[in-house]
Amino acid sequence: MSKYLIAEIKDNRPVNKNHNLLVLDSPGIPETPSPGQFYMVGIEGTNDPLLKRPFSLFREGNGEIHFLYRIKGKGTGLLRQMEKGEKVSLLGPLGNGYPLPPKNITPLLIAGGIGIASLFPLAAKLSDSAILFYGGRTGDELLMLDELKGMVKELIISTDNGSAGKKGTVIDVLNIFLTSNSQLLTSNLLLYACGPSPMLEAVSRVASEKGIKGYISTEGNMACGVGACLSCAVNTKKGYKRVCKEGPVFAIEEIVW
Ligand SMILES: Cc1cc2nc3c(=O)[nH]c(=O)nc-3n(C[C@H](O)[C@H](O)[C@H](O)COP(=O)(O)OP(=O)(O)OC[C@H]3O[C@@H](n4cnc5c(N)ncnc54)[C@H](O)[C@@H]3O)c2cc1C
Ligand code: FES
Repeated sequence: MSKYLIAEIKDNRPVNKNHNLLVLDSPGIPETPSPGQFYMVGIEGTNDPLLKRPFSLFREGNGEIHFLYRIKGKGTGLLRQMEKGEKVSLLGPLGNGYPLPPKNITPLLIAGGIGIASLFPLAAKLSDSAILFYGGRTGDELLMLDELKGMVKELIISTDNGSAGKKGTVIDVLNIFLTSNSQLLTSNLLLYACGPSPMLEAVSRVASEKGIKGYISTEGNMACGVGACLSCAVNTKKGYKRVCKEGPVFAIEEIVW
């Protein structure tokens, strides 16, 4: 059951020049949210911006809930200016979250940019069974690397300009990995991806070419977050579905690009 609540900001610190970590006191969070679920977050006491913005659960526990966010436009610009002791409104947890892999399956997590926010709690849950591919434009765009290193079986980072990790897109690196580990049976792999739409489309192509199953967390323009306004609808093989209600996580082969 999702719930509407007001939470106090304990910290809202920059992690690099255009990303912040928001730490909230979370008394009354109704249930333990699952990796891949999200919250609608708004600035308490103002109607500007009118609409709350969706953010993935990044981390929770010890009476706190954390969000990792990229400063993009008006809403996140205002959120960045908020300080300890100020309040935000929260609606959540919302959406379906990532189904966990069966035993003996190797999960390959593919994060592009701020997509790491959604995959981080999944990586923490799967820990040393997961291989995480994490790509950014440049090295200073990659977040939480120290924590991620100790968390997963293998962390493979990449940057478009080669300033950290392997040079190329996260998809280039995934393809090289799959080619050079051809002894891995594709039926023993499961993909989990979150990132910009072109990256998700490319993951879908790889999955289809190699016959690998998996899940992607899609983005949609959200207004209500609870299935009422249809602003977040995406085209699937079974018709339009709401990212906020039937998603944000869909089986890879389900989405029509
Ligand atoms: C399920 C999900 C999880 C996400 N998780 C994260 C996360 O963990 N971290 C993260 O950084 N980002 C995440 N995002 C993306 C994040 O929600 C956007 O970057 C954020 O909403 C940007 O808000 P903004 O106001 O700064 O940007 P803007 O570009 O100003 O606005 C964001 C959206 O709201 C719409 N909008 C703005 N104003 C109005 C208006 N007046 N009326 C109607 N629509 C309007 C815009 O069309 C735009 O699509 C997630 C998105 C989804 C769907
Ligand atoms: S945001 Fe309103 S239906 Fe999804």
